[in-house]
Amino acid sequence: MNILVTGANGQLGSSIRDIASQHHNFIFTDVDSLDITQYHDIVDVITRCNIDVIINCAAYTNVDRAEQEPEIAQLINATAVDNLARAAANNNATLIHISTDYVFGGNCNNIPCTEQQATAPLGVYGLTKLAGEQAVIDSGCRHIIIRTAWLYSPYGRNFLLTMLDLTARRQSLNVVFDQVGTPTYAAHLAQAIMHIIDTNQVHKQGIYHFSNQGVCSWYDFAHAIARLAGHDNCIISPCHSNEFPSPVKRPSFSVLDKTLFTTTFGFDIPHWHDALIQCFNSISDSKRITME
Ligand SMILES: NC(=O)c1ccc[n+]([C@@H]2O[C@H](COP(=O)([O-])OP(=O)(O)OC[C@H]3O[C@@H](n4cnc5c(N)ncnc54)[C@H](OP(=O)(O)O)[C@@H]3O)[C@@H](O)[C@H]2O)c1
Repeated sequence: MNILVTGANGQLGSSIRDIASQHHNFIFTDVDSLDITQYHDIVDVITRCNIDVIINCAAYTNVDRAEQEPEIAQLINATAVDNLARAAANNNATLIHISTDYVFGGNCNNIPCTEQQATAPLGVYGLTKLAGEQAVIDSGCRHIIIRTAWLYSPYGRNFLLTMLDLTARRQSLNVVFDQVGTPTYAAHLAQAIMHIIDTNQVHKQGIYHFSNQGVCSWYDFAHAIARLAGHDNCIISPCHSNEFPSPVKRPSFSVLDKTLFTTTFGFDIPHWHDALIQCFNSISDSKRITME
């Protein structure tokens, strides 16, 4: 199968690159080699490389900055996704597109959100990602939309890497405990996507939810990171969200129900704490390899 990965230098794209098997022909691109705002460039790659599946990892992911740059967020998260979806539809390719729990606004009444739950984004990022989902559906292309949450990995900028840095340098830290969700190890999402492709299930069109299993607050997540890193000198204290003024309101309860994903695709999703340990192991393995 010929698989095009867009936004391949980001967290998820890099995690897919890590596990890309030799059974498929992967074309990894990012904005410098394929800017997805350019429809004709997308069509050119799809036709030249005879692409069967597109995995769209490209996105505008800065939730706070999106409030100041709504046009750019809309261009990358919605208009460019429309380009990809139309190009997929016109060239008989399947689009696997990644979306977010931020299409919900904490309107799940403290019950994990299913795919049927009404969307209600709280900010520009969520609104533009929701518009991207709609563009995929409206295009008529064969598609799988996967909403994920709290993505982290050894790559790029994310909560894990920020906490590793802060807890190493500081003696104390306040982290919010009134926002609850589930972290997602990008390697596990990458494995789940490859499982869908390797088991020939790309025709199972629809919207699906994917994060790791379990529930925690950002405080719990930070605490677990610091303990696993051995940064025991840093005291982490729980605090309220209003102590960290932000241009955008974030949902207080944002847990995704993964039942549809696990039953449809037959994929067991690890618990978030086990996932974090695996991520730590992979970071220390790669450090060992670099030192050798
Ligand atoms: N990160 C999270 O916590 C989170 C949570 C829920 C859902 N998601 C979703 O999960 C997916 C993957 O997220 P991620 O964290 O891996 O994202 P990421 O690390 O921010 O990577 C996104 C990549 O897309 C690239 N890109 C931006 N504009 C582009 C364009 N016009 N054409 C091609 N590539 C472009 C970015 O390049 P530059 O860096 O140069 O801009 C970056 O390499 C996204 O759809 C995101 O919305 C993420």
